[in-house]
Amino acid sequence: MSESQRWWERDARAVWHPFTQHSLWLDDEPTVVARAEGPWLYDVDGRRYLDGVSSLWTTTFGHGTPEINEAIVRQLSILDHSTFLGATHVPGIELAERLLSLAPTGTGPTLSKVFYAGDGSSAVEVALKMAYQSALQRGQFRPLFLHLAEAYHGDTLGAVSVGGIELFHATYRPILLSTLAVPSPGVRSPGQSPAERAAEVITELEKVMANRGHEVCALVVEPMVQAAAGMLTYHADFLRACRRIADAHGALLICDEVATGIGRTGRMWACEHAGVVPDLLTCGKGLTGGYLPLSAVLTTDEVYQAFLGTPASGRTFFHGHTYTANPVCCAAANANLQLAVERDLVGQAARLGERLGALLAPLQSHPGVVEVRRIGTMTGVEVHSRGERTGFAVCQAARRRGVWLRPLGDVVVLMPPLTLEEAETELLVTALAEAIDEVVA
Ligand SMILES: Cc1ncc(COP(=O)(O)O)c(C=O)c1O
Repeated sequence: MSESQRWWERDARAVWHPFTQHSLWLDDEPTVVARAEGPWLYDVDGRRYLDGVSSLWTTTFGHGTPEINEAIVRQLSILDHSTFLGATHVPGIELAERLLSLAPTGTGPTLSKVFYAGDGSSAVEVALKMAYQSALQRGQFRPLFLHLAEAYHGDTLGAVSVGGIELFHATYRPILLSTLAVPSPGVRSPGQSPAERAAEVITELEKVMANRGHEVCALVVEPMVQAAAGMLTYHADFLRACRRIADAHGALLICDEVATGIGRTGRMWACEHAGVVPDLLTCGKGLTGGYLPLSAVLTTDEVYQAFLGTPASGRTFFHGHTYTANPVCCAAANANLQLAVERDLVGQAARLGERLGALLAPLQSHPGVVEVRRIGTMTGVEVHSRGERTGFAVCQAARRRGVWLRPLGDVVVLMPPLTLEEAETELLVTALAEAIDEVVA
């Protein structure tokens, strides 16, 4: 019996995994990860795999980056944890300053305040509650959120309310918040250009907002790409229109940069591709370099001011988590963002994106491939279905070739660490192409 087999048995007895159908779990022979270094994962039997999805879209510089390791160890010896409710600490203050110094600029307001949360979903909850309450406290009852079909913003109920992936979200619909939805700008009919699709959905958005805009406290979007829907990229005009239409109706714009932020799209923030600044920006995932759970919401002075008043006024933002702004998480994020500036992480990501694009070009015309979609390093290769779980079968075939991938349905996602080198990028794409040959062609 291999080490992996031994752990599978113990795992199956005790553990329930996220987004996992456990009736198939053992048949799928899950990777038992023992350690990681750079872009590599090693399993308990010593096999190594290229981490082709950055450990669920988080790793920036690779695993075991010495500077981030050292920052965490240093912080542990200074302050492991203290609350951010009624107290503060140095790494939390420094990180807020750093995030604001990196905030997007362009059409829209200045982002000047940072509120911390734990993961992407909880950052989205914060943004939703802030949007609703700030309107209320400016004298406007606006109980609706407007979101996109095919959206994904996390798995807590507020985030699910503004989601639009039927498989994940339909079950919970009866217990969710009230929302309005418009079609996805990333789903195009055959022959339709991204600009044409953007124009079509903008018209729809204008119509919905003309009718109900006075009830909407915020438009919620994943900027430039609906990642979990299968890397559905869309035209920047759509994001610009969201900014304009939100302003016209007195609603806020929430850009959920949990997946796209910290360089993934070849810019620090995806909204920069459209030159748009939202009123609320959520980030998580790559914030700590892929080390520890931490997320943040960046917002404006205007939103912040709406919460000021006497304690008895009830205007306080009654939201916080036990581990909000944990100092060790903040230290990891500080080290990650410092390195990001020093080593031009965004430039590296942009170059990696171009390299990926060039290497993936031949797959565009592969008979097994429906479409290759990419913005920066965020890539989805949609394969033709060959029955159930084709995307998964391709990932298993890639794993046999030393590359670890995870699909979204029949879309195989590539989202490697942002500093992936040339030879490793070639391995990533070669393994994928061979896997598609094996499973789909
Ligand atoms: C755009 C977006 N928002 C929110 C989330 C949820 O983040 P988390 O899984 O950290 O709760 C995700 C996760 O993939 C995401 O892609």
